Amino acid sequence: KRRDEGLSRDLYQLMEEASRYFQNQLKQHTDKQKVIDYLAHRGLSDEVIEHFNIGFAPDGWDGLLGRYRQNQDAQDKLLTAGMVIENDSGKRYDRFRDRLMFPIRDRRGRVIGFGGRVLGDGTPKYLNSPETPIFHKGYELYGLYELKQRHRDPNQILIVEGYMDVVALAQFGVDYAVASLGTSTTADQFQLLLRSAKEVVCCYDGDKAGNEAAWRALETALPLLKPGDQVKFMFLPQGEDPDSLVRQIGKPAFEQLIAEAKLLPEFLFDTLANRYGTDKGTLAKQAMGLIEKVQDTVLQSLLLENLAYKLGMNSAEELQRKLGFKRIDAN
Ligand code: GTP
Ligand code: MN
Ligand code: MN
Ligand code: MN
Ligand code: MN
Repeated sequence: KRRDEGLSRDLYQLMEEASRYFQNQLKQHTDKQKVIDYLAHRGLSDEVIEHFNIGFAPDGWDGLLGRYRQNQDAQDKLLTAGMVIENDSGKRYDRFRDRLMFPIRDRRGRVIGFGGRVLGDGTPKYLNSPETPIFHKGYELYGLYELKQRHRDPNQILIVEGYMDVVALAQFGVDYAVASLGTSTTADQFQLLLRSAKEVVCCYDGDKAGNEAAWRALETALPLLKPGDQVKFMFLPQGEDPDSLVRQIGKPAFEQLIAEAKLLPEFLFDTLANRYGTDKGTLAKQAMGLIEKVQDTVLQSLLLENLAYKLGMNSAEELQRKLGFKRIDAN
């Protein structure tokens, strides 16, 4: 245990040093101009670059690794931290090369991982840190530490897909967004968000993947919800993401869209109504399947009442009688 704590401490320190190194390269490296051009092309301000400590990993195999040439222990720990890769023949090299670097911080502000974006059209577009002893993707949220620096006790948190979305929104004054890290939003991330703010608004890209992510998020959030938890969903125009949209319409219009976000039950029932239309039987069955996931019995009853009403029945009891729905707390 003691040894683990020592290791973690060293990893945090190396990650902080790496982040400083990437930030310095953005200021000093001979190739810095192409990065500055890319940042200008994406419209990022100096202030927001500084606020999120965005940096540059230069091209080459040992920009970071080479700084620890005399220190075998540090080299081994860079490998453990996911900053260095070892190939089959034991050769080691930097994981992040020629990329724009977004440091990912934990809630205490410690750098635990990076997202690295290619400067242009290459693939993969993003390279992320692997799971390490200090980085667990499904449990962290990009931008949460930075958000809390600005809002100690936020009313509302927006959850978006990408690093660029968080950064662009902050630049335009919507400085209360976070991103899940490459995967769909996990139950742990929802739990963390619901502890951090009264209202969580899911704001995924206006495309097929974004819409699917929203539905997955609904399914993930359902079992966690308690009465009073506000989880909402907003939908962006086709082809837009928060970054592209806030640049076009600005903060007031964007916040108007946030204000029009659907509450989770509304999203649930609207989606099922769209899918099953006048087929009330299927609609009811599908809705019941989802409502069964809700662990909180008060909220579950509310949703059942809601469904009964939508189906033109008088009460949840009538619905349960007709469809044989078993409550979670039934004995
Ligand atoms: P940018 O505006 O440049 O960020 O691109 P985008 O808006 O087209 O990104 P997209 O919506 O495709 O991706 C959103 C998020 O998904 C990114 O911030 C990454 O976290 C993740 N992601 C996107 N592409 C990749 C990829 O190639 N590999 C991995 N691991 N993650 C990716
Ligand atoms: Mn603010
Ligand atoms: Mn997308
Ligand atoms: Mn996007
Ligand atoms: Mn984008």
